[in-house]
Amino acid sequence: MNTDNQEIARLEEALDTLTGLPSCLADPSEEGLHEVLEEVSRRLQDNLPYPHPLYAGQMMKAPHRIARLAYMLALWTNPNNHSHEGGRASTAMEKEAVAALAAMFNWQTHIGHLCSGGTIANLEALWIAAKLRPGTGVLASAAAHYSHRRACELLQLDFHAVATDARGTMDLVNLERHLADGRTGTVVVTLGTTALGALDPLPAILALREQYDFRVHVDAAYGGYFTLVGELPVEARACFDALAQVDSITIDPHKHGLQPYGCGCVLFRDPALAPLYHHQAPYAYFTTDALHLGEISLECSRPGATAVALWATQRLLPLVRGGRFSRDLARSLQAAAALYAHLDTDPRFLTLTQPQLDIVVWAPRGVCASSISARSHALFEATAAAGLHLALVSLPAGLLQEYWREVEFDTPTVTCLRSCLMKPEHADWLERICCILDSVADAATV
Ligand SMILES: Cc1ncc(COP(=O)(O)O)c(C=O)c1O
Repeated sequence: MNTDNQEIARLEEALDTLTGLPSCLADPSEEGLHEVLEEVSRRLQDNLPYPHPLYAGQMMKAPHRIARLAYMLALWTNPNNHSHEGGRASTAMEKEAVAALAAMFNWQTHIGHLCSGGTIANLEALWIAAKLRPGTGVLASAAAHYSHRRACELLQLDFHAVATDARGTMDLVNLERHLADGRTGTVVVTLGTTALGALDPLPAILALREQYDFRVHVDAAYGGYFTLVGELPVEARACFDALAQVDSITIDPHKHGLQPYGCGCVLFRDPALAPLYHHQAPYAYFTTDALHLGEISLECSRPGATAVALWATQRLLPLVRGGRFSRDLARSLQAAAALYAHLDTDPRFLTLTQPQLDIVVWAPRGVCASSISARSHALFEATAAAGLHLALVSLPAGLLQEYWREVEFDTPTVTCLRSCLMKPEHADWLERICCILDSVADAATV
């Protein structure tokens, strides 16, 4: 039996345990089902090999088998975690899974829930922040995810981008200049930027909070789980340890938490914020006095299956330092450090700074920015043709000038190669990845 068949057999066993429920199929006939499913299979072949270690492009990581199985199992009842009456078991599982995420950040108290992803989690955090600080604006670094600026547009909040330093992290001098006008209610700190995986200096930003009194929302959608890695560099450790003092956090289990898409999470440290969600819903919340998750969530219907999958994954792989889950994250960091070291010694490539997490950005050497961009595109195509899938990223010349002093910057931005080494298997496949890069590097000479 191959592994996929074993997985289906496990699902069948689990379904036998899920007894006592009426069949959920209104029409049990199978007419046309097989053909349509075959068609779906054929159509799905038009994809890149996302779960394979030679896919090293965007932030994509296959869900763990337990997440996939638990999710599918939950679909047999298809609970809705808006309220207890929509999903009793899955509501309890969501509360437990979210509490484990809050505990991972050493929070003694929290409210929070799952949502569709980092974008909605950020929107919700800024929505609540705006209620607490009416009439004030939001600051985030120029490298923050675009969802913050967009959320501010939706919420009609003033948004300003703080300049970044050479490592792509929030520049403290520029931040303080913005804070000085007294109009900032919330600073968004990113722990793990989307492009570079850079960590904004959270401890220093918290120190400024003493003087300027703002809320701190941390976007740890991608980077948050790295707090579990035991041996982080001192600076990164300090950033993650400081999470215990922030007001709200976004973390995406569908990035590094081994979940299928549609699993983000927003956390607030102060449970007393719950009344800010107050709304009229005379048709809901009637079965119990215990908290219904819809009472503290921006969205109404939410998939209980998402909570079940996350709960099951955390049960199998608890969120503890030194555990199996954290050791796998450490392997991603090792893979990124090793790829960086390899590229840094190859004169055909230009590198930036040592990666802080598991994203590596580099470019083929060229005399000017435009030729570097053209070569990055060529290398991107050549590696894909050789079976290695990378991503591209456009970076401001100002950031790269610090590193590439001999390059003539004839364009305001430069296209570089970007690789998210998010799978633990990337560490085992690194030799092969480097081998492919070596073999196609010359093809990038255009
Ligand atoms: C730092 C950060 N925040 C937020 C998001 C948005 O998350 P989602 O795509 O789940 O909406 C991303 C996505 O890559 C991200 O990297």
